[in-house]
Amino acid sequence: MREFIQIAKAQAAPPCTVVIFGASGDLAKRKLIPALYNLHACGENIAPRNYAVLGFARRPMAVQEFRESAREAAARFSRLELDSECWRDFSARLDYQSGLDQPDGFRKLKARLEEIEAARGLPPNRIYYLSVPPEAITECAERLAEAGLAARPGAANFTRLVVEKPIGSDLESALKVDSALREYFDESQIFRIDHYLGKETVQNLMVLRFANSIFERMWGARNVDHVQITVAESEGVGTRAMYYDPAGALRDMVQNHLLQLLALIAMDPPVSLDADAIRDAKLNVMRALRPIAPGAARAQVVRARYAAGGIDGRNVPGYAQEVGIPAASRTETFVALKAFIDNWRWSGVPFYLRTGKRMPERGSIICVQFKDVPRILFNRERKVPPNALTIRIQPDEGFSFEVLAKQPGLDIALRPVRMNLRYESEFTGPSPDAYERLLLDVMIGDHTLFVSANFVEKSWEFVQSILDEWSRDAAFPLHEYPAGSFGPEAAERLIAEDGRAWLNP
Ligand SMILES: NC(=O)c1ccc[n+]([C@@H]2O[C@H](COP(=O)([O-])OP(=O)(O)OC[C@H]3O[C@@H](n4cnc5c(N)ncnc54)[C@H](OP(=O)(O)O)[C@@H]3O)[C@@H](O)[C@H]2O)c1
Repeated sequence: MREFIQIAKAQAAPPCTVVIFGASGDLAKRKLIPALYNLHACGENIAPRNYAVLGFARRPMAVQEFRESAREAAARFSRLELDSECWRDFSARLDYQSGLDQPDGFRKLKARLEEIEAARGLPPNRIYYLSVPPEAITECAERLAEAGLAARPGAANFTRLVVEKPIGSDLESALKVDSALREYFDESQIFRIDHYLGKETVQNLMVLRFANSIFERMWGARNVDHVQITVAESEGVGTRAMYYDPAGALRDMVQNHLLQLLALIAMDPPVSLDADAIRDAKLNVMRALRPIAPGAARAQVVRARYAAGGIDGRNVPGYAQEVGIPAASRTETFVALKAFIDNWRWSGVPFYLRTGKRMPERGSIICVQFKDVPRILFNRERKVPPNALTIRIQPDEGFSFEVLAKQPGLDIALRPVRMNLRYESEFTGPSPDAYERLLLDVMIGDHTLFVSANFVEKSWEFVQSILDEWSRDAAFPLHEYPAGSFGPEAAERLIAEDGRAWLNP
């Protein structure tokens, strides 16, 4: 049995009240309530000794009704099975307040919070989790401030604001949202969630790169041929047409998840494990990310949407035929692009990014492909495939390293083999859901896994360079791909023209 090396112990959270804005919504039910319950089930070494959860939304609902709907949600979505005693203890902490959209709603919220804190002996440590539609975010921040609920940092107690993606729908609107938030809250109080960053495998990227000497020495233009990042979804737009159609894959996936993965895979070693040091290292990647130059988008970016096709043996409609999609919609459900990072480490190395809906299966991978073996010895005929490190973010979390080995026998025959780590079989301990990790980090005030204002700005700058090209070039192609495929031919050509090929999850 190999020993593990503890770097930092999970910290127990301080007493606080978590106010979930939009507590009747989908995210609250599927993720937030189950995550809070799971933290509770971890006991006092993790969950706060004393805390409360106050649901806040528009619709009137009795506290008992809220607790009941929370129980149903937790029973369905919780990682841990519901334990009746543990649930009783947890649900006694749940409260509900309506009136999010009412003129006196926030005044009532303040009164209710104070009541709960007094009754439970809680200090006014408050976390406001804005799980509301994006257009309601700034108004919530403003109304919190008006109601005297947005205490500035420096006080003995903390006030924290959690915001979900998307932040804005283009560079200008993102800057507007951010400056509105910072009118009422300090950057140190704001926690911008990208739930990808809470995933174990994403956190493991740093360990893989900086706790193993072999990789870091090879990490850069000298040894790496190219990097690929694929985030594939098998689902279609489903019931989210109203949200998805105005956004599309570039805004919905590239601006946040894919660029976060890009920053983590490409960043220089941070000077320490502090949140600021890590966020600075990631930001430097974004500063060096070359915007798509005017006129270059056709050569570097492919957009497409799914047509009718088959997935898992069933026929599914095309995007244009999905319920709620406007007839004139030109929204992309797929983007593939080639990007470059203009710094010493990555000069000239292409980063191919790809994401789409209705792909054959759900899967997120990063593949670092190393340079070809010199054309001597075993590779005189140019047949030896290069080494590749593939990091599987989800599902089947883990990574594999492809190397060449001799096939046993009298011939000299080579065969690529995989050194494969599967989290599930290597580690037996529990793997917390991303939202558990992120909620705990908000409680203890650790910003490491959250997105900084500067990162949001830089990522939108890059995405905006593409959006600008799309609006300038009215004839920019919107390709189609059959549902159940890995994207259109044009995406294959994008990479094939460079003599490379996509690696599918
Ligand atoms: N669902 C996900 O998996 C997911 C993933 C990533 C990010 N997000 C983000 O998380 C946020 C919440 O998403 P959701 O899926 O939970 O949305 P949702 O199911 O539509 O729930 C929205 C919640 O906000 C309230 N609400 C609706 N319109 C409002 C308005 N104009 N002003 C104030 N409150 C309003 C609703 O209250 P009533 O029900 O009382 O009317 C409801 O509780 C969104 O920003 C979304 O982009 C969601």
